[in-house]
Amino acid sequence: MTPALTLGDVLRRAAEHLGKTSETARLDAELLLAHSLGRQRIELYTEFDRPLSDAELDEYRALVARRARSEPVAYILGEWGFRRLTLAVDRRALIPRPETEIVVERCLARLRDASAPRVLDVGTGTGAIALALADELHGARVTAIDVSADALALARENVARTGLDVELLEHDLRAGLPPGPWDLVVSNPPYVEPEELATLMPDVREFEPHVALIGRGATEAVARAALDELAVGGWLVLEVGDGQAAATAALLDDLGYADVATTADLTGRDRVLEGRRVGG
Ligand SMILES: C[S@@+](CC[C@H](N)C(=O)[O-])C[C@H]1O[C@@H](n2cnc3c(N)ncnc32)[C@H](O)[C@@H]1O
Repeated sequence: MTPALTLGDVLRRAAEHLGKTSETARLDAELLLAHSLGRQRIELYTEFDRPLSDAELDEYRALVARRARSEPVAYILGEWGFRRLTLAVDRRALIPRPETEIVVERCLARLRDASAPRVLDVGTGTGAIALALADELHGARVTAIDVSADALALARENVARTGLDVELLEHDLRAGLPPGPWDLVVSNPPYVEPEELATLMPDVREFEPHVALIGRGATEAVARAALDELAVGGWLVLEVGDGQAAATAALLDDLGYADVATTADLTGRDRVLEGRRVGG
């Protein structure tokens, strides 16, 4: 009789298998196994020698097979961490990224001393930025818009899940922004050019909503529209694609924003732009 596979064996095999398609194979394997066993990831380390039952193996194999077909781990798990929150995630909206946590960081830095600031998140997706700001910026009044009814439905679930107060509106930024004055307009707009879609990883290209990825001119549209609705002295904070920071900084300068500054993400790439509206 073949000895039963232990948890450690299974993890090793899954990581090897996923290594053909994923750069984070061991992490993926652990996250999926912890999820399917209903454990914290750290708890796996105390059970390496435990044999898995056939039912446990079957369930895990099904999850690994999904990941091997490039489905993002976050969609398989159905939830993902962002700042202090754990948000529901699925194919209706983009998975919140680590660099977007830096966007929130810059918003907090700019508004830390403001009392009851009015905040608008443009293209909210899961609601990540809006919810993190409602969570971390005491007294903020946060509104979030998205053109995608699907994304808004997911954001609504996240509002309920977190118990935070965020107003959600279905609204196309190309019609201008909802009336301010806003003390902060923040956006991680779609910034992939249509012709770049083919160059994206299959995880992104085949699973995340294209309305969240592709958006020719969306960054400029937000920067222009924000000038009409920001309070004088109010801040615009934008996430931009890798390689887009210098052009976006020049755009903000041209549009008359003051104190234009760029912040790098954790890998040293310039990804976050900010500027302040001045004058009337
Ligand atoms: C890159 S995703 C960002 C999602 C979320 N804010 C985050 O950072 O994880 C861009 C979002 O903008 C939304 N969007 C795209 N075009 C839009 C438009 N014209 N008006 C409003 N929202 C739009 C998409 O539906 C998507 O949710």
